[in-house]
Amino acid sequence: MKNIILAANWKLNKSPAETRRFFKTFFDEGKKKSFYAQIGKQFQVVFFPSTISLEATSESVKDSEVRFGGQNIYSESQGAFTGENSAKVIKELNGHYALIGHSERRQYFHESNSFLNKKIHHALKSDLIPMYCIGETLEERESGKTEAVLLAQLTEGLKEITSANGKTLVVAYEPVWAIGTGKIATADQVKETHAFVQKTLAKLDLEQTPILYGGSVKAANAQELIQIPHVSGFLVGGASLEAAAFLDLIQNSLA
Ligand code: 13P
Repeated sequence: MKNIILAANWKLNKSPAETRRFFKTFFDEGKKKSFYAQIGKQFQVVFFPSTISLEATSESVKDSEVRFGGQNIYSESQGAFTGENSAKVIKELNGHYALIGHSERRQYFHESNSFLNKKIHHALKSDLIPMYCIGETLEERESGKTEAVLLAQLTEGLKEITSANGKTLVVAYEPVWAIGTGKIATADQVKETHAFVQKTLAKLDLEQTPILYGGSVKAANAQELIQIPHVSGFLVGGASLEAAAFLDLIQNSLA
């Protein structure tokens, strides 16, 4: 069985009170599922709440094997960087992960591959697992540039990260045109692109890196997508906001 990672990116949703309510339902209902005891053993479940809800998440998951992390970190852990997020604080709250380079960060906050590379190095130094997001826009796909874009995102973003210093790295492939649109990439597109990402990671001496797929994943398509070679799990937006829907997605990903 693949070592599956099922990650929830809540983006700018859920206050601390809503976060606590979500986890109450998630654990009440989750404990009734046969897969519950395998969380953290046969597969990982990871939540990325907004920064203001990190502490509520930390408290909510503390007696479980569920992991969490920040949606973004800065490349320094402290100093005069108004409005930024600290890897050190995520670690202090017992977080394990940092989401880095989500397409919304690239698009709205103009984060470049070289800046993201600094964040990945900083996450690893801070003992957080970077979950590095890559993906092409619709225009790039339609003009035949998908592989060139992904190659640049991987080689520049993962510069000087190797299996020695990047043991605990995760890559999430999210085609930008499939995010929040309900448009899911076809199984052939996912197969072809994940094979390319895997081949590129192997060239970078990072072939053990799990590759997640993201973009309109839900319970109804999880079972088909998880069968695709080199798909090690999912990074889920909309379908992770309701506990019942996310539990169904987890169940179908393991089927
Ligand atoms: P959706 O699942 O809402 O398409 O979002 C995907 C995503 O951006 C996860 O990071």
